[in-house]
Amino acid sequence: MTKHITIGFLGCGNVGSGVWRLLEGFGDDIEHRAGLRFHIKKVLVRDPSKQRDVAVPPEAFTTDPADVLDDPDIEFVVEFLGGEQPAYDYLLRALKNGKTVITANKVAFALHWHELQRAAKASGAGLYYEAAVCGAIPIIHSLEESLQANYIDKIYGIVNGTTNYILTRMSKNGEPYAKVLEEAQRLGLAEPDPAADVEGLDAAYKLSILASLAFHGRVTFEDVYVEGITHVNAEDIRCGQELGYTLKLLAIAKRDGLRVETRVHPTFVRSDHPLANVSGSFNAVYLHGHACKEMMFLGRGAGDLPTASAIVSDLERAASACQHQYPTFQNEINPKVALQQNKDWQCPFYIRMLAADEPGVLSSVAKCFADENVSIAAVQQKGECQDGRVTLVVITHQASEKAMQRAIAALDRHVAKLESIIRVEQE
Ligand code: HSE
Repeated sequence: MTKHITIGFLGCGNVGSGVWRLLEGFGDDIEHRAGLRFHIKKVLVRDPSKQRDVAVPPEAFTTDPADVLDDPDIEFVVEFLGGEQPAYDYLLRALKNGKTVITANKVAFALHWHELQRAAKASGAGLYYEAAVCGAIPIIHSLEESLQANYIDKIYGIVNGTTNYILTRMSKNGEPYAKVLEEAQRLGLAEPDPAADVEGLDAAYKLSILASLAFHGRVTFEDVYVEGITHVNAEDIRCGQELGYTLKLLAIAKRDGLRVETRVHPTFVRSDHPLANVSGSFNAVYLHGHACKEMMFLGRGAGDLPTASAIVSDLERAASACQHQYPTFQNEINPKVALQQNKDWQCPFYIRMLAADEPGVLSSVAKCFADENVSIAAVQQKGECQDGRVTLVVITHQASEKAMQRAIAALDRHVAKLESIIRVEQE
């Protein structure tokens, strides 16, 4: 016998239309296989008259959130509004009204996970968010369920397709950042206001969710160190390639006991590492667990149908659940089990500088590094001397972030001017 579930949409943009189409085209299959049929009763939009590529009946549109959030017929609320507000208020109200929420909104979710989960538990409603991180890739479900038997100590994610597209183009064609960004905007691969993507914030929201699940302790958005790709330079990408590295915007989470480091920044990875070959707008998550060992997930992190794939799977999971499950976090149950944020991580560094081409320069540079116990692994002088200066590229051994920053600050600008510093992962 088919179970009928009435749902409401908050928003109906690209992803909302994808979910509509997927339910329309795949609904019979879901009913046949799982005995479930979803009926979309109301769709909250700003402008019902706007042209859409799905045939939503006009009477389903509403501009009043109460028609979705307070209608007792609606059991599941699916949210595509994005951003913190008003999405967070709507989600909270839906959960308090006992409605199960399925959201693709990493911002509202990452910032208010505690409150949303508390409201869900109190009313017995479900809270599902597979689509909030890496679109179609089932990384949330994997961390929540399939990888429970693991102590996960490392996650490396390429979790933002826009920046991966830009860095891939810069790496393949040596094109400058501004030109590639403009092209990505023209193709609809970057937003007209690209800040959240290119400044690394989108990746940081996603990393806080992944790290919290993997480490069983809440890692907040504020805990994540964030640096975007706006200063990335084609010359560094080329120098890195010559040294056997590929540049990626990596979302990195590591733990050692209760010490946790979470950071998003441009990172050189070895060009033979599987992450180096994740091209264009693809996403990937590479992790290590003590039992599963290394594992990599690869797939589409955005787009209408890929994101709808995660949402409709969540709908099915929620509708089939006898009892909704919620992740537990050690630092919530027992505040004494506090995770310690390690802001002084260790990694090798790539440093490019313009140095005076005269005797003693190398030893002055080396002294700044040595004074901070930063050991140099390799030095290269690149190209010809111009205006009395040459390009020097230094790769260090594993060094402390803080020591490296002190060493850089100590460089005498007359001797060597820092052009760029990029962290390296040797995994
Ligand atoms: N803007 C994101 C990206 C997709 O470029 O990956 C949604 O999270």
